[in-house]
This record gives sequence, structure tokens and C-alpha cells, in this order.
Amino acid sequence: MVSTNEFELKIGIIGGTGLNNVNFLQDSHEIEIDTIFGAPSDKLLCGKINNVECVLLSRHDKNHLTGPSNVNYRANLLALKKAGCQILLVTTACGSLNENYKPGDLAILDDFIDRTYKREQSFFDGSKVEFAKICHIPMYPAFNNEMRQVIIDECKKMAIGFHEKSTMVTIEGPRFSSRAESKMFQQWGGHTINMTTCPEVVLAKELGMPYASIGIVTDYDCWRDNVDDTEHVDVASVLKTFKETLHKVTNLVYEVVPRLAQIDWQPILDKHSKMVENNYFRLIL
Ligand code: ADE
Repeated sequence: MVSTNEFELKIGIIGGTGLNNVNFLQDSHEIEIDTIFGAPSDKLLCGKINNVECVLLSRHDKNHLTGPSNVNYRANLLALKKAGCQILLVTTACGSLNENYKPGDLAILDDFIDRTYKREQSFFDGSKVEFAKICHIPMYPAFNNEMRQVIIDECKKMAIGFHEKSTMVTIEGPRFSSRAESKMFQQWGGHTINMTTCPEVVLAKELGMPYASIGIVTDYDCWRDNVDDTEHVDVASVLKTFKETLHKVTNLVYEVVPRLAQIDWQPILDKHSKMVENNYFRLIL
């Protein structure tokens, strides 16, 4: 059993669109890691933020050539685990399904609705001896609350426009939603919409890795009535707002990382591993 004194936190950071090129980490070097589920989207960039070890992976690869349905989410998460990361802090561009969530705001995710249908959702699919079990992973709470609280505290300190909660609807893509879909997702209680939270959040749970996600609101999707047709989501509007908002997220991550390192993670990680083990399906008659 590792004592808290010996524990050294390493944070996996998965950057969505845009958080991939910056000289984001100090003393950085790239490593290549392969996994039993294949290669991750890109090389991993290892380095430090404020003396805290971090490993950065760009979700779609540096040149954004891997679309949301083709990201190898299992390889990405397993590679970060193999690199020694215990927890995952991720960012994601997203649309807004709610008038109060404005482009340029940040949304701290606390729940999701999964509308994907082409993606591998589990490590425990019977294909690998390392995961030769059936696991029915509980998805409440989906996002780690210790991490969420640190992010919320820092957003408040930095006076960033943000929302403490957000139910993310993840669609398969690559197309954006129809208007009827967008309005239906609103009725379902979605606040934000993207193409990548699922299955990433699910796979992190299966690996016992606390996971938090910062949504960067880039557009109002297409549900708004009485606005000019040009105001509905398109790639140009997503990229424009993303570019304008990126500095907020980078600054936030720089503040959040050292605060995360002050948390006593060992008992939280132990609880996560036990939770995974308790949900292996065992037939007891
Ligand atoms: N990513 C950014 N905006 C989005 C939207 N409106 N729908 C799906 N994914 C998005």
C-alpha cells in the first residue's frame, strides 16, 4: 500500500480542439505509447505545470484528422494510464442548449446523455484477457466531484463566466444536429452538446480514474427561433469562439493543476478501484 507521502500525482490532460499545440507544459518531452487496444490519437507530451507532473494528449491528434467517431478512446485512456496518470482533466468544445449558457462561457460537466452509437463503450468486451470480466459500471456520479469543486472554486476566484453544472448531450456526429433534435435535447434537460464526452467519461470510470471535464461553449447549436440563419452553429463559429476563449481555459488549467495536487488522492483512488471491482458481474445463486 502506497502511503500518501510517497504518492506523486500525475495528471492526464486531454485537450479537445485547440489545446494541443501550445507550449503548455514546462520541461516537456514526447513519448510514444502503444496499448492492447491500439495506438492513441497522438504522441503523449510529458512535462510539468507548477511542478506537478502532467501528460497531455490531443484527442483528435495535432492536425485534427481523426473525427469524433474514429477517435480510439480506449487506447487514449489506457495510454494515459500506462504513462502513470491517476486522474484525468479534459476540455471539450461544445454547443449550448440553454439561453443562459452563452458562447465564451465555461461549463463544468456533472452529467451526460449519450446519443452515440458507433463507439466502443467498454474495455470489458471479452476481447482481452486483461479485461476478461463483465463489468456494469455505475455512471452516477459521472464526473469526479473533488475535481469539479476545485475547478468551480478557481473559476469563481478568476471571475470567469461559468456554470457549475451541465448535462452534456454527446451526439455521434460528424454532422451537427437537426433543429428538431436540438429542441428535443433541450426538452430532455441537456445544457450543452458535443461529440466526444461519451464514451471517454465511461472508459475513465472503468479504469478507476477520476475524470473532470471543462466544456467551452462555442455556439447556440440551432434551436434558437427568431435569429438570423447565419447565427446557427457551423465550424467557423465554433473555431472563432474557441480561439477567443482558449486563453481562459489555459489560465484556468494552470490554476487548477497545483490545487489538485493538494488533494489526498489515495483514498479516493482506492474507492474508485473498489467500485470497479464491485461491479464485475458474478452470478450468485
Ligand atoms: N461542438 C461544438 N459545438 C457543437 C454543437 N453545436 N454540436 C455538437 N458538437 C459541438
